[in-house]
Amino acid sequence: MSNGRGSWGSQLGFILAAAGSAIGLGNIWRFPYMTGQNGGAAFLIVYLVLVFTIGISAMLAEIVIGRAAQRNPVGAFAVLKGGLWPLVGFMGIAAGFIILSFYSVVAGWTIAYIFKSFTGLATISDPKVLGEMFGKFISDPVQPLIYHAIFMILTVAIVIGGVSGGIEKWCKVLMPALFLILLVLIARAVTLPGAGKGLAFYLKPDFSKLNAKVIHDALSQAFFSLSLGMGAMITYGSYLSKNTNLPHAALSVTFLDTLVAFLAGLVIMPAVFAFGFNPAAGPGLTFITLPAVFSKMPGGMFWAALFFVLLLIAALTSSISLLEVVVAYFVDEKGMSRKTAAIVFGTIIFLLGIPSSLSLGVWSNFKIMGKGFLDLMDYISSNILLPTGGIFITLFVGWAITERAKAEATNNGKIQFAWEGLWIIICKFVAPIAIAWILISGIM
Ligand code: TRP
Repeated sequence: MSNGRGSWGSQLGFILAAAGSAIGLGNIWRFPYMTGQNGGAAFLIVYLVLVFTIGISAMLAEIVIGRAAQRNPVGAFAVLKGGLWPLVGFMGIAAGFIILSFYSVVAGWTIAYIFKSFTGLATISDPKVLGEMFGKFISDPVQPLIYHAIFMILTVAIVIGGVSGGIEKWCKVLMPALFLILLVLIARAVTLPGAGKGLAFYLKPDFSKLNAKVIHDALSQAFFSLSLGMGAMITYGSYLSKNTNLPHAALSVTFLDTLVAFLAGLVIMPAVFAFGFNPAAGPGLTFITLPAVFSKMPGGMFWAALFFVLLLIAALTSSISLLEVVVAYFVDEKGMSRKTAAIVFGTIIFLLGIPSSLSLGVWSNFKIMGKGFLDLMDYISSNILLPTGGIFITLFVGWAITERAKAEATNNGKIQFAWEGLWIIICKFVAPIAIAWILISGIM
């Protein structure tokens, strides 16, 4: 492509980069604790159903919008239709700010845990000790902020490097490595004495646990994990070449992301029960459970360090997609340089993350709507903004640009897309209605 925006090296390059965006803390930190808080297998099943109906359709919708328009989310809605539609893009950019602000705080924890791996972390299996250690670290007023700053600096540096230069390269090595280490950890976790109870919790559904909150959380988790609802995939799709097979790309990314989340659950859930942790422990779950698993492995220190390094890189390939949305907007629409935009907005996002970090310690008594600041940021973005974005993105494809979207999804009829009719029906009716219903009942 010669429009000067840069583009992916190949179809595989895009799939890796988009999967890199999707696979991150959402899969390994957020998914297991959401599953633990929402009753286990019943949550998993609702999650899978939502991912492979609404999620995958919204994924394709975003990629189609992005490649059709070759723009950032705001510009994309403006060139394809105009009117009030660009507001959807603005909402996405706001969501990007908010998500990255707390995402970077949690990603900072992974950096700290790399160092802790070398100082005895991987020798402890007592839930109480691990819980206290984690609690003491995240409630410290200074340390987590330093790691949060380091993570934002890394993110900004990679985004300055540009699309295919920075992003694609990382994903090619990381993804297979992360996958392999998860398999090793699963082998260890499921053979721990007492792991069976965790497997049952994770895989044998108890549907009496289903309620509106469980379904709402599953939907939010699907959007968060797949990087949907705020135009990240619109932005990544905008760097795609015209001969890429979009339905295939959407399916691959959705499948890989879901696989990694599922595998993460297969590590965490058996271990939670084997060591007697509480599955509903919340955001600390992964950080307190994994060290116990490492402590029962030969060379635990090595595995722990390797794992947290890989998790850090997975978080980076996600955080760059969040910052990229913001940067692409200011570069395309406001004529800023990539470098200035990355530094300015990286700094603002860092500042916005500070109250999130402090809300776990010195500011823990300060609550808005019964939630601490980090919880509130997560709730507003994941449970409200992303699904709302999803409603409008699917409506846009289903109603506003139907024919254009079909042509884009099939490369003007050049590729077979057997599910086209179903995809359009989901975009027109199923996704918007289901998301709206889940949102309303979940909030009430
Ligand atoms: N999906 C990423 C994860 O699971 C996080 C993320 C990156 C994201 N880009 C996003 C979430 C865009 C929502 C929207 O860790």
